[in-house]
Amino acid sequence: MSSIQTQFLELAAHHARYDQIDPTSALKDSASDKVVFIAGASRGIGQATAVAFAEAGARAVYLTARSENALKETRDLVKQANPETQCAFFVCDVTSAEQVKAAVEDCVAQFGGIDAADANAGYLGPWTKIGESDPEGWWRSFDVNVKGTYHVIRFTLPHLIQSAKRRAAEGRSGGHLILLSSIGAQLLMKGASDYQTSKHAINRLCEFVQSDHDEDGIKCFAIHPGGVATELGLKMPEDLHAYLDDKPDLAASFAVWLCSGKADWAKGRYLSATWDVGELTALKDEILRDDLLVNRLRAKA
Ligand SMILES: NC(=O)c1ccc[n+]([C@@H]2O[C@H](COP(=O)([O-])OP(=O)(O)OC[C@H]3O[C@@H](n4cnc5c(N)ncnc54)[C@H](OP(=O)(O)O)[C@@H]3O)[C@@H](O)[C@H]2O)c1
Repeated sequence: MSSIQTQFLELAAHHARYDQIDPTSALKDSASDKVVFIAGASRGIGQATAVAFAEAGARAVYLTARSENALKETRDLVKQANPETQCAFFVCDVTSAEQVKAAVEDCVAQFGGIDAADANAGYLGPWTKIGESDPEGWWRSFDVNVKGTYHVIRFTLPHLIQSAKRRAAEGRSGGHLILLSSIGAQLLMKGASDYQTSKHAINRLCEFVQSDHDEDGIKCFAIHPGGVATELGLKMPEDLHAYLDDKPDLAASFAVWLCSGKADWAKGRYLSATWDVGELTALKDEILRDDLLVNRLRAKA
């Protein structure tokens, strides 16, 4: 078996929301009394995630991105999905520490805390071999995907820790942090060195968040959202567009499932939203025993 085959679980694959992770039925009210902070909520998977948390009864959903009009559109969708869910937005570039800090402070001022955060903002540039790449464009992937994600982690974590502790004292689960990774984090596709190494870094960052803050009650996950025909997804070379066959509500509902506390055992690991959660849960003992779904150097066959 090639090393790449050992990096993915062969589970039943889903392409859209299904019963076990449906925020309108199985996970209804799982987010009630929670405040959810989403970076990159103006369209695509982030927008669907905002709607899914509203459907799951979130007390408040806080939206950030750079496009004000698109954020207003997401706010309207959240209101349609659940008029009871409070919603606010903040125009913010994740590459700016000051702006992310200000957004987090505004969220906490408006809603009193943060129970779950979703670092979803991402960037995918043109695919070019390293030796022919534009240095600024190459680094932009790290700026948005790694620095931006770091900012969301850095400024939401103190509030997530408070949530985790408060909810643990009540016998409930809180302090969930989702980082948007990609299946590309483990792939080696020519021309994708900036995006795929930035997502590889996200998987490691997830492990570090878990290692540094496990005792604080944090549950961090690095997720592949599936292949989705979003603005970002469609920037992949055309011969790969056939893989963009997943709906944004799959990753959105999977995020709600992760924040419901049902997958706390999988904290600190890479997970794909396409994997059937029943089959994934059945592998819990094996995954924990063999410490699977983490990045490690291949040192022997
Ligand atoms: N689509 C896929 O097949 C796929 C596969 C694997 C992983 N992913 C990951 O999933 C995440 C969501 O992507 P998507 O497919 O939903 O893409 P998308 O529809 O293009 O959405 C990207 C989101 O990120 C925001 N964003 C981008 N740059 C930003 C910045 N500098 N500051 C703040 N927000 C910024 C965008 O908002 P503004 O432009 O308004 O700022 C938008 O809300 C990304 O992290 C992506 O890498 C996607």
